[in-house]
Amino acid sequence: MAITLGFDIYGTLIDPHGVTVKLGEIIDDRAAEFSQLWRTKQLEYTFRRGLMRDYENFVVVTRNALDYADQVFNTNISEADKQALMASYRVLPAYDDVPAALQKIRAAGFRLYGFSNGIAEAVSGLLEHAGIAQYFDGVVSVDEIGTYKPNPDVYQHFVESTGSDKNNAWLVSSNPFDVQGAINIGMKAAWLHRFPEVVFDPWGIEPTIVMQELVEIVDRVK
Ligand code: LAC
Repeated sequence: MAITLGFDIYGTLIDPHGVTVKLGEIIDDRAAEFSQLWRTKQLEYTFRRGLMRDYENFVVVTRNALDYADQVFNTNISEADKQALMASYRVLPAYDDVPAALQKIRAAGFRLYGFSNGIAEAVSGLLEHAGIAQYFDGVVSVDEIGTYKPNPDVYQHFVESTGSDKNNAWLVSSNPFDVQGAINIGMKAAWLHRFPEVVFDPWGIEPTIVMQELVEIVDRVK
């Protein structure tokens, strides 16, 4: 049976800091710093909502985190500009290496899925916009079960809904918490060390493989 790959979306294939372009038009030279806080809070809110068992989808969480960052930076972003920023989240760019790598991975015979905290419609839209949707067999969203990564149920849902099993299902992610979540249920996981400054959390839950480049999947995922 072909190996099934679940690609994390934000931070792995798609750059959430693509919002800095729109942010730069609205809030001057603090756009990069603002974007970092927005993203950090967005993830924190997913963890907290998971623990509280009080699910709201990723669009809501992203908007809440935007409102938070706006207050911290005292930027007073108007409602119209907030809506424009949320709209820019739906057309975020892929990282430069992604299209060519996915083409090779697809050609090597793997089954490819987007696997994200994002709602399926938003993820499909991002893949379309980035011109990479054709490499995927489908999209699996945590929204289908109403909780977030790294809840074990989310990874179980991925395995079941793609008709794979834990032994031949791999997560591919740049996010250490996501990699640890997949390993935790017995999936395999490739950590893409996309950013040199990111340290893999030293808990003793290690990735199956560590990659410097996405295209390494072709030769190293077996
Ligand atoms: C995702 C989050 C982890 O795409 O960014 O699932």
